[in-house]
Amino acid sequence: MCGITGYIGYREAYPIIIKGLQRLEYRGYDSAGILLYNDDVFISKTKGKVSDLEDLMNTDSSKQGNIGFGHTRWATHGIPNNINSHPHTSNSGNLVIIHNGIIENYDALKKELIKRNYTFKSDTDTEVLVNLIEEVKKTNDCKLGKAVQIALNEVIGAYAICVFDKTKPNELVVARLGSPIAIGIGKENKEFFVASDASPFIEYTKNAIYLEDEEMAIITANKEVEIRKIKDDSIITPEIQQLKMNLEQIEKGGYDHFMLKEIYEQPHAITDTYRGRLIANQGIIRMAGVDDNMEKFLNADRIIIVACGTSWHAGLVAEYLFEDIARIPVEVEYASEFRYRNPIITEKDVVITISQSGETADTLAAIKLAKSKGAFVFGICNVVGSSIAREAHAGAYTHAGPEIGVASTKAFTTQITLLSLIALKLGKAKGSLSNAAYRNYLQEMELIPKKVERLLKEDENVKYISSIYKDVPNCLYLGRGYNFPVALEGALKLKEISYIHAEGYPAAEMKHGPIALIDENMPVFVIAINKGHYEKVVSNIQEIKSRKGKIIAIVTEGDIQVKKIADHVIEIPETEEAFTPLLTTIPLQLLSYHIAVMLNKNVDQPRNLAKSVTVE
Ligand code: G6P
Repeated sequence: MCGITGYIGYREAYPIIIKGLQRLEYRGYDSAGILLYNDDVFISKTKGKVSDLEDLMNTDSSKQGNIGFGHTRWATHGIPNNINSHPHTSNSGNLVIIHNGIIENYDALKKELIKRNYTFKSDTDTEVLVNLIEEVKKTNDCKLGKAVQIALNEVIGAYAICVFDKTKPNELVVARLGSPIAIGIGKENKEFFVASDASPFIEYTKNAIYLEDEEMAIITANKEVEIRKIKDDSIITPEIQQLKMNLEQIEKGGYDHFMLKEIYEQPHAITDTYRGRLIANQGIIRMAGVDDNMEKFLNADRIIIVACGTSWHAGLVAEYLFEDIARIPVEVEYASEFRYRNPIITEKDVVITISQSGETADTLAAIKLAKSKGAFVFGICNVVGSSIAREAHAGAYTHAGPEIGVASTKAFTTQITLLSLIALKLGKAKGSLSNAAYRNYLQEMELIPKKVERLLKEDENVKYISSIYKDVPNCLYLGRGYNFPVALEGALKLKEISYIHAEGYPAAEMKHGPIALIDENMPVFVIAINKGHYEKVVSNIQEIKSRKGKIIAIVTEGDIQVKKIADHVIEIPETEEAFTPLLTTIPLQLLSYHIAVMLNKNVDQPRNLAKSVTVE
């Protein structure tokens, strides 16, 4: 994880870097640090958040310079303290580095450097890397760029780095393997920006180069950026992309938190996901990535879905969608387990990977594995141009817009929207879905954003329920069928941001264990919509009731039966069973949000978590 950002040009670097770090803070917030150069190197770093760094800098008048970089850390090697914070400096004091990733062979490299009399202040792998670069530079008597290139060939691991050399203070050298780097290009090459994503420089330039894996760049003010292959130092002509993101998208826009803004953005985000793809009145779903590879999908023995976290929950919903609607067997895998299990993958498998960020290390590695076994890989991502989007054979973007809150909300519902479209498209092509049912689904999909909007208006009720249960230590979430994954996601949302222990379970499994936990203090959130196995869920609710558990039920508008037994109900509009996760999820997101706010937790940046997990 970690966020990195840098600037080189004619403006004061400090305000650009500090603002950039705030925007990248979703990537980690264990510590923050900055380098500025103005005749001499100035470094400031501290455990804590970017705001702590800012406080520290406010007491310092030397925050000047037209070149510099900053780092916000999600700790891997070494506890979050001042010494382990980035930037790290080489023994001579000449080289300074920031790093996102992990150097796996750092221990061996460190031992080698110690033999050559290098000393280390921190416990980090990054300090090893900067000294390795220094050693290479000294031994080969070369410039920084060449030293970085040679040193990285000795490194095993993942990195996005930005390096500065005091003896050549008009240059930054950046490199990537596994962790993202975008370079923003200012007018006439007068200034350049470096960042883990484009958000730190979006108001300065829309022209960006995204480094590919195993590429590095030498960035000098008033010169073309020089891109090289790390492996053999060969020069590459970069592709300059036009960014579509705008500033409003990455700001809170009047909401107290990004998470709340993103929950409320869902009607729009869902519409943006199907815009141009769904033409309901003509019975058409158009998706180039699927259309161009229809044979692969239709001839697949099975679909393997690989993802992590909330995206994995979207994958579980997709298992119901694909099997129910398109009659294709599906397996859903945690990327981290899949990649290390020696899984059986064949050329007749279609692997669908789901990732909001498109940077999750385990998911990326799973794609590479699936490709090496000959499977066709289809990537579903939100972040345009992300590593996973580039690595997959084909794919589709969710177009949810930037998701900043660490707890994923609109990414989940838009992933489900996209997966629904694919399932419907395949169901139609396979003939497993009647024309009438297909048409009906398409029309219903167009109504979903309005139904989400209606549901969001019920927020006061959810807030009231939140106020009643905010102090409980444990919660259970139950659902069946399409809404079993929603129960898992509801529990994940609550524990992520409020730190209340919560477990999601298939409702019928409750009697195989969790029922032992139920007493008068245990709130149980049950998704009991009038579709699928309603009567069975009602029986499960009775079982909870007879053990005095508190029942908060999500029901369909007009429900009578559950209302009589539940302590509280939240109503969702009627829809097709396959689309109910798009609605039942919303109140559970709001509930977690309100509870976390009431408990005074940091909603957008929950402890120990990060939005983009670029470490294994
Ligand atoms: C982290 C985030 C989650 C996210 C998961 C997978 O754990 O905190 O919100 O669901 O990573 O991320 P991805 O970007 O691959 O969807």
